[in-house]
Amino acid sequence: MAYLLSKENFGKMGEYIYRKSGIFLEPEKHYEKLAKYIDARAAAIGAESFRKYFYRLRFEDREGAEFQELMNAVTVNETYFFREKEQFEVLVGQILPELHRKRPANEPLRILSAPCSTGEEPYSMVLHILEDVGIDIDSTVIAKGREGHYSERSVHAIPPVVLSRWFRKKSPGYALVDDLIGTVDFQVVNVFDRNQMRRLGHFDVIFSRNMLIYFDDASRKEVAMTFYDMLNPEGYVCLGHAEYMSRIVSVFKAKKIATTLIYQK
Ligand SMILES: C[S@@+](CC[C@H](N)C(=O)[O-])C[C@H]1O[C@@H](n2cnc3c(N)ncnc32)[C@H](O)[C@@H]1O
Repeated sequence: MAYLLSKENFGKMGEYIYRKSGIFLEPEKHYEKLAKYIDARAAAIGAESFRKYFYRLRFEDREGAEFQELMNAVTVNETYFFREKEQFEVLVGQILPELHRKRPANEPLRILSAPCSTGEEPYSMVLHILEDVGIDIDSTVIAKGREGHYSERSVHAIPPVVLSRWFRKKSPGYALVDDLIGTVDFQVVNVFDRNQMRRLGHFDVIFSRNMLIYFDDASRKEVAMTFYDMLNPEGYVCLGHAEYMSRIVSVFKAKKIATTLIYQK
């Protein structure tokens, strides 16, 4: 099957995606999927060659809609409620009480989930606490997060008492109760877009789990330093189990609480 995207042009496309989002695509793993996607998008916008599609993407996409389509297609959004749940326990049992003691009483603690995908991570925190901001580059997952409707698989790790209290059965799967809708402020944000990130303000805790694994070292470093700048003094970063801050930058202090590694500014 001949695609509009040749194997040679995969490099150009990969470089563009990497520069814009940090996502690193490999020809052996991703060529077929990307080529199929470009054929479909080119047909949708009436571009009859890769060159025309690529030109449109780079120079004629003023509102960023074509770029958003592309990001929605290349991201991996796997997530579920209470994933690596020990980190939520450490957050609620240790980190938040410690930060709360150190802050003036009337100052709220702010938590960022970057990336949040369809919202299971920030809502897992909300099930323990109050408010949260969730950001992701993929606008389809952000829309799903705002809707609060989840599959059976997504809720499988939630203890039954918590599930029955905060969800109602809505086929297929479960819907969050109305009281919880709106407790997470969902926003489409690219962690590499400094203006978008700056506008979010400062946070006491940033959860960034299972995104850095898709980046290379230079991108990981850039994001880690953005998080550092966005954290309040003594704030914390929590990464996924396969991600280690010490391999990225040396500005954070690593702390081990139970079996959970967290990083303090
Ligand atoms: C595997 S999910 C992880 C979700 C959740 N943190 C968890 O651990 O369950 C990775 C998410 O990273 C998002 N992502 C990838 N690159 C991004 C970027 N440059 N800015 C913001 N989000 C990004 C993807 O859209 C995807 O939803």
